[in-house]
Amino acid sequence: MDGTSPWIEEAVLHDGAEARTIAGIWFGTEAVMKIRRPKGYRHPSLDQSLTKRRLFAEARILVHLSNSELPIPSLLDFDEKNSTLVITKLSGVPLFNILRNSNDFDQISSLMYSCGNLIRKLHSLGVSHGDLTTHNLLCNNLNSIQIIDFGLGRLSPEIESLGQDLQVLSECLSASHPNHPNAMKFVLNGYSEGDEKGPIIDDVISRFQEIQGRVRYHG
Ligand SMILES: Nc1ncnc2c1ncn2[C@@H]1O[C@H](COP(=O)(O)OP(=O)(O)OP(=O)(O)O)[C@@H](O)[C@H]1O
Ligand SMILES: [Mg+2]
Repeated sequence: MDGTSPWIEEAVLHDGAEARTIAGIWFGTEAVMKIRRPKGYRHPSLDQSLTKRRLFAEARILVHLSNSELPIPSLLDFDEKNSTLVITKLSGVPLFNILRNSNDFDQISSLMYSCGNLIRKLHSLGVSHGDLTTHNLLCNNLNSIQIIDFGLGRLSPEIESLGQDLQVLSECLSASHPNHPNAMKFVLNGYSEGDEKGPIIDDVISRFQEIQGRVRYHG
């Protein structure tokens, strides 16, 4: 980029089908730029509206949660014209890598409990995530969990979307991390315990169980 740009590109972190994620420096701060691009195989105008929807969803949720003290990135810039977001860079590595490389039962059970507890906080703040895989949960060197990638998230979600968050994580754990068969049990323990008030948490757990029954029944 030219000398007047506030952005210094350092490394491409991920080049996915819909977004390219680049690490760099934004006005002196370690940051991540997410550039959304249309998928190409969809109709151009549908493509554009889906791209925009995800871009706006992510920005809106990050702003909604910005005073919450949840371990999520802060929004530094939003550029609708170029379909880009700039967010602060978090220090963690994907939980995916840790689950693949560790057999430390105590470490993993405590990390999974923390994930559940964090998801509970997120849900209690009126946000569903929409894509809770172990690539969108990061873990830092203090064994603390962080959440990223809110492009499929919703504000004021229905109970179904909250139950689906648990279902997506459960499916990801059994498909990608079969070496940790009890991981979801610890997530649910963490999800069930906390100070947040209100009946919503019990409703979400019941809905999750109902979704699991549906999936088992329909295969
Ligand atoms: N704020 C951040 N701090 C550190 N690493 C990040 C951050 N945001 C993204 N990453 C890294 O880049 C990867 C891709 O980012 P992200 O999950 O946001 O995009 P994506 O999965 O391509 O997006 P989408 O699923 O919305 O199309 C992450 O798995 C993570 O490794
Ligand atoms: Mg992602």
